[in-house]
Amino acid sequence: MAETNPILVTGGAGYIGSHVVRQLGEAGYPVVVLDNLSTGFEDAVIHGELVIGDSGDRELVSRLLQQYAVDAVMHFAAHTIVPESVADPLKYYGNNTSSTRNLLSCCQQHGVKRFIFSSTAAVYGIPDNTEITEDTTVAPINPYGLSKLMSEWMLRDLAAASDLRYIALRYFNVAGSDPAGRIGQSTKNATLLVKVACEAAVGKRDHIAIFGTDYPTPDGTGVRDYIHVEDLASAHLKALDYLDGGGESQVLNVGYGHGYSVREVLDMVEQVAELKLDIREQPRRAGDPPTLIAAADRIREVLGWQPEYDDLKVIVETSLNWERKLL
Ligand code: UD1
Repeated sequence: MAETNPILVTGGAGYIGSHVVRQLGEAGYPVVVLDNLSTGFEDAVIHGELVIGDSGDRELVSRLLQQYAVDAVMHFAAHTIVPESVADPLKYYGNNTSSTRNLLSCCQQHGVKRFIFSSTAAVYGIPDNTEITEDTTVAPINPYGLSKLMSEWMLRDLAAASDLRYIALRYFNVAGSDPAGRIGQSTKNATLLVKVACEAAVGKRDHIAIFGTDYPTPDGTGVRDYIHVEDLASAHLKALDYLDGGGESQVLNVGYGHGYSVREVLDMVEQVAELKLDIREQPRRAGDPPTLIAAADRIREVLGWQPEYDDLKVIVETSLNWERKLL
């Protein structure tokens, strides 16, 4: 059932946040988006009100929480580029960790009881087992993963000390776009495989690299659990329902529980786009684990989440449609 009070969505003009905002709108929730538009886009916010500003700005956040009597926050605003986090760690500890701390402090001050946090599979680092459960040891190998893990830990400790309840969703490899083509991933200088491959398919790039063909995987290329952004978004609405119903705080993986190799992804892009890509085999990229697949049972059990787009072809089709639209 829809909320009476608006939900504050930080980073709601970004790729994932904008899909969640759209779904919240479709489900009848009032929404206030807070986004500084550093990587987000104004026209990606197709529901609710957009306030341009920083989620680490205590004065602004306090004013919004009070003005709208917010009692649930979804926090997407963050930097997300792993190599950049290695080169400029304080940017990540500042914008991701310190900003979350400021936001949580405002939430505490204004009695916000429900918090949904965008976390990442990067908290696991390079795990020993290929199937990663929520109890797998966390050991991030880059400042991006650590900046998110520290936010998770702040949430854990604050929840233990107060009546705030939270869900931290650890995203695996998000891809795809709104099937109706209204919004998508507009990120500049994209590095994520599906986006980059679709950019190559529409001629925005002259080639696509495979980073490593000698991994201990069936075809030698890296394997990831690619999840459609629509399913990822719906997990956030389920998380909200769950917290509304009095559910306890949880940390949950969001993935499908199976993966595809880089070659399988590129084959699918060629099949859907009906062309041959210029594929260049290159050495491994530093810090890339061979295989990352979520153990994805807990989220189904706890939230009753049911994915609807668990199909690589649909992921590629929706990504490619969006890339064509951007041309
Ligand atoms: C990483 C992070 C993830 C983060 C995401 C966004 C880890 C473990 N994961 O995902 O949390 O949200 O970045 O920054 O840190 N590949 C190619 N050619 C390309 C691009 C990628 O072969 O041009 C390969 C990679 O080597 C990898 C797979 O494709 O095997 C997926 O890579 P990518 O889409 O960049 O995502 P991750 O690195 O898995």
